[in-house]
Amino acid sequence: MSKPGGTEKRDSFASSLGILLAMTGSAVGLGNLWRFPYLVGENGGAAFIIFYLVCVVFLCMPIMMCEFILGRRSQANAFGAYKKLAPGTAWKHAGLLSVLAAAFILSFYSVVGGWSIKYLVMACGLKFTTAGGIQPEPMFNEFVTSNWLPIFYTLAFLACTGIIIIAGVKNGIEKFTKTLMPVLFIMMVVLAVRSMTLPGASEGVRYLFKPDFSKFTASSAMAALGQAFFSLSLGCGTILTYASYVSHKENIMKCSAETTLLDTLFALIAGCAIIPAVFAYGISPGQGPGLVFVTLPAIFAELPAGGVVAIVFFLSLFLAALTSAISLLEVVIAFLIEECKLRRPVAVAVSMSVFVVLAVLCSLSQGALSHVKIFSLNIFDLFDYVSANVLMTFGALFATLFVGHRLSRADIEDELTSSGRYRLPRPLAGFIYFIIRWAAPVVIIALLVAGLIA
Ligand code: PHE
Repeated sequence: MSKPGGTEKRDSFASSLGILLAMTGSAVGLGNLWRFPYLVGENGGAAFIIFYLVCVVFLCMPIMMCEFILGRRSQANAFGAYKKLAPGTAWKHAGLLSVLAAAFILSFYSVVGGWSIKYLVMACGLKFTTAGGIQPEPMFNEFVTSNWLPIFYTLAFLACTGIIIIAGVKNGIEKFTKTLMPVLFIMMVVLAVRSMTLPGASEGVRYLFKPDFSKFTASSAMAALGQAFFSLSLGCGTILTYASYVSHKENIMKCSAETTLLDTLFALIAGCAIIPAVFAYGISPGQGPGLVFVTLPAIFAELPAGGVVAIVFFLSLFLAALTSAISLLEVVIAFLIEECKLRRPVAVAVSMSVFVVLAVLCSLSQGALSHVKIFSLNIFDLFDYVSANVLMTFGALFATLFVGHRLSRADIEDELTSSGRYRLPRPLAGFIYFIIRWAAPVVIIALLVAGLIA
């Protein structure tokens, strides 16, 4: 039973595998299966992927280590971490930015999570078979622009997230994420193989692996960096918050590397599952957010036993989205429990009442409120843009500046090696330190400036 917040013993993960799968559960989500493929399609295929991989390895992995260091060293929420490690300074506002980023993302993420439930329900009704006779594109447009149905599914998605979070870290988050990821992985591989062997898919495969830098602009670079942050759940306190439940014995370098690797693998497999099929069906690869919900149903109709595959895919999509949403909500919940001294169930109730309003606005912005534009973006796109391209970027920037310039190199190495328990070769330590201290902040600032000018 939870006691009033603050006096409550902090929850923690029970096993190394549990930590890795919870981290991977946070990282692998709609960003990999839904966002990555359409961004690849919109930004010149392989050129985007190459830049994305460079960002992931040289920038994001060290940034993930920074968040790990902040969380595990402080054993506190995103706001509390900065407050604890730099008492009496303005650094805590950097933590607040992360909490805000998580809240913004969860608001529009729940809408797409809701779409995945709706599609799961339809798949169970065998709608995605030749006999189902659906027209994916008009059906998707009609659904997302309608008022009540998407709201209903969005709220259902939020409710699932809240229920798991109420159970806590070990019994809710960890238990839940453990069995799901392998199922999703197997499904995506099956889909990728099927997609790449469709007649006419070879052009799509070429598009994925043959770079065309003429289509790659400064805004593509911004999009790639934003997507890398988004996909690895960086800059919005999720890795930091999860790391705060990790014991000092765990190897955080290994966990960062494995999480990054698994997440990137999922994104590439999703690209292979979707882009070749897009070409095989003569659809434009720059179709935007509808890609997964329009293209995949068309593929399922062609597959032997496609009805069953559709059920498992949308179930996996929903569960992958759910494990990510859980990590986003936990950022806000940890903040409310530790800073506002709320009990976990109360924190869940309070945050849910805010998310219901924000998510409903995002959902309606696809239809009834589509005319409401801020900086020529509707509410959904604005939340997406501001969180991925602004808040998370600043969140990551401050994390690197703090770890690189406020903590000492000895502190960093102490965390990375778990006080000497794990080996960190000198040249690698120097390289990581250089990236955290100089390269990452400079690149992030340069890209922010480029994004403003573009
Ligand atoms: N990484 C998740 C995805 O790819 C989204 C996410 C972003 C989750 C930020 C948590 C924090 O879908």
